[in-house]
Amino acid sequence: MSRAFSSVPTSIRATLFPGDGIGPEIAQSVKQVFKAADVPIEWEEHYVGDQIDPRTQSFLTWESLESVRQNRVGLKGPMATPIGKGHRSLNLTLRKELNLYANVRPCYSLPGYKTRYDDVNLITIRENTEGEYSGLEHQVVRGVVESLKIITRQASLRVAEYAFHYAKIHGRERVSAIHKANIMQKTDGLFLKCCREVAEKYPEIIYEEVVIDNCCMMLVKNPALFDVLVMPNLYGDIISDLCAGLIGGLGLTPSLNIGEGGIALAEAVHGSAPDIAGKNLANPTALLLSAVTMLHHLNLHDKADQIHDAILNTIAEGKYRTADLGGHSSTTDFTKAICDHL
Ligand code: IPM
Ligand code: MG
Repeated sequence: MSRAFSSVPTSIRATLFPGDGIGPEIAQSVKQVFKAADVPIEWEEHYVGDQIDPRTQSFLTWESLESVRQNRVGLKGPMATPIGKGHRSLNLTLRKELNLYANVRPCYSLPGYKTRYDDVNLITIRENTEGEYSGLEHQVVRGVVESLKIITRQASLRVAEYAFHYAKIHGRERVSAIHKANIMQKTDGLFLKCCREVAEKYPEIIYEEVVIDNCCMMLVKNPALFDVLVMPNLYGDIISDLCAGLIGGLGLTPSLNIGEGGIALAEAVHGSAPDIAGKNLANPTALLLSAVTMLHHLNLHDKADQIHDAILNTIAEGKYRTADLGGHSSTTDFTKAICDHL
């Protein structure tokens, strides 16, 4: 067989982490919709273990990380994170071990699903590997603890580069760097300096700097004031939830993590919702929309658009909606309705 023929892939292998709680149900929904849409993806499923793998110091095994490294693309459901104790967060393990340096979180109004605002169209781009999430915490003496917020030029430049590049290729007009450099002069100061340097290479994009508290106020007053927002890790965590709230919640918002060398791991940002797990009640929209961003990343734009439209049309029609959106549909009925809209 000639090279040209043998190199045409029939399907693309992608890692799938169904995750905990409602994860397996909503992952099932993605598999079903992808099958109905004839998407050429072959899933390689990996489950979170129940023992700590010493090689990763978390319940994620080394093999499952290797799977993403090999496939270079994957989709992740929610993974439960203990609060204030226990093992290393699985989300953080993935981000750190795979060097997923930029986290893209789009928030746009869904037609037919009314919230306080109509035309929200925001992209949060979050630095994903350092800052307040560096995990460097210790007790100095009893009653005094210390946490180190690490900001490096390298990580700040690459996330800023990603944000401006994203803005450019998606026809966006403005990039706002969100910070608290009036107080954290060194750390956020360096972050801003890096954003400014990159901004100079993109004269066609408007660049501005907004202090985070003011940004929150402006976002809830008028989300149209912003376009693409880039920021350090913790601010991105908070602002992306705020933005999700503007359009109906975390059950509707996708996310895509970008790593060095073009690795991409799409993930639903919501929690594992153990209270409704296994009850066929979960809303699979966030994971489905994350899977759509994964398809765009793979340049499977037609399939991505087809599935995206089917999800939005199903929600807009209003006949099949899960309880979080005020409806009475089960996960499986909602999924079937999406398949019927393909
Ligand atoms: C998110 C989540 C995670 C984070 C948690 C689960 C560790 O809130 O992806 O936004 O804080 O980054
Ligand atoms: Mg969060």
